[in-house]
Amino acid sequence: MPTALITGATAGIGAAFARRLASDGFDLVLLARDGDRLDRTARDLRDEYAVRTEPLIADLSAEDGLAAGEDRCRQGVDLLVNNAGFGNKGTFLDVPVTDEITMLKVHCEAVLRLTHAALPGMLERGRGGVVNVSSVSAFATRGTYGASKAWVVSFSQGVAQDIAGRPGGDRVKVMALCPGFVHTEFHDRAGMDTSSIPGFMWLDRDKVVDAALRDLRRGVQVSVPSPQYKAIVGVSRLIPRELVGRLSNKTGRKYGPQR
Ligand SMILES: NC(=O)c1ccc[n+]([C@@H]2O[C@H](COP(=O)([O-])OP(=O)(O)OC[C@H]3O[C@@H](n4cnc5c(N)ncnc54)[C@H](OP(=O)(O)O)[C@@H]3O)[C@@H](O)[C@H]2O)c1
Repeated sequence: MPTALITGATAGIGAAFARRLASDGFDLVLLARDGDRLDRTARDLRDEYAVRTEPLIADLSAEDGLAAGEDRCRQGVDLLVNNAGFGNKGTFLDVPVTDEITMLKVHCEAVLRLTHAALPGMLERGRGGVVNVSSVSAFATRGTYGASKAWVVSFSQGVAQDIAGRPGGDRVKVMALCPGFVHTEFHDRAGMDTSSIPGFMWLDRDKVVDAALRDLRRGVQVSVPSPQYKAIVGVSRLIPRELVGRLSNKTGRKYGPQR
């Protein structure tokens, strides 16, 4: 059985990846911080799909959590989904700088280190895939969050090019996944008020996962699920960056009162 390691596997997009991959027959390594929730998720998926499920408690903003994720990737995984992520509550100067650095650790350092740990085994076996969950924010201007997601896109494209020329590299895929708004726990956790975001902007997480896995199979390097977001990203590439910044900076970035 192939094995998939999914970070942030207990909620939202990561949980949708876990369910879909279990139904496809993957054994799963499920990584997140909340151990009770991980155990419940692992048990439910194992019982429902008769696959092996391995909970891995790890905080990807801490050195021991990063090292645990790397170790498990080095033991061999066929598919790595670097999905864990979060939003901070507020714009740049309202957020403690330590929280911004934590975001860079989870969104960038963890993605870099787990990808670096997983790829040699995949190249040796001549098969495998890495999905790095970015966001359409990568093409907009949305503070540290958008900047970190832009890094994920650039990093994934760069790594895909770098491995293409290596032995086995033509059968190992690396892709950045850039969804728009998806109903998950993300916005509540970040204290975001999403009431002004129109219904057509919201995506179904299972459809996002379907599109991602389809694009990965086709060798797409940057996957933008859904026609409406493909159009938005296409237009954003045609208009001046400053205008993109002014239009995109406020969309969906209304925060409730500071807690
Ligand atoms: N929802 C959207 O609209 C949207 C749009 C575009 C991109 N994305 C991206 O999609 C990814 C998943 O987000 P989501 O919306 O599914 O969020 P979510 O529902 O809040 O789920 C986040 C998951 O990540 C885990 N996690 C958070 N911090 C972690 C850490 N430090 N170490 C390990 N695990 C951690 C959480 O579990 P624990 O709390 O137990 O650790 C949870 O399993 C993120 O990278 C996000 O930026 C989301």
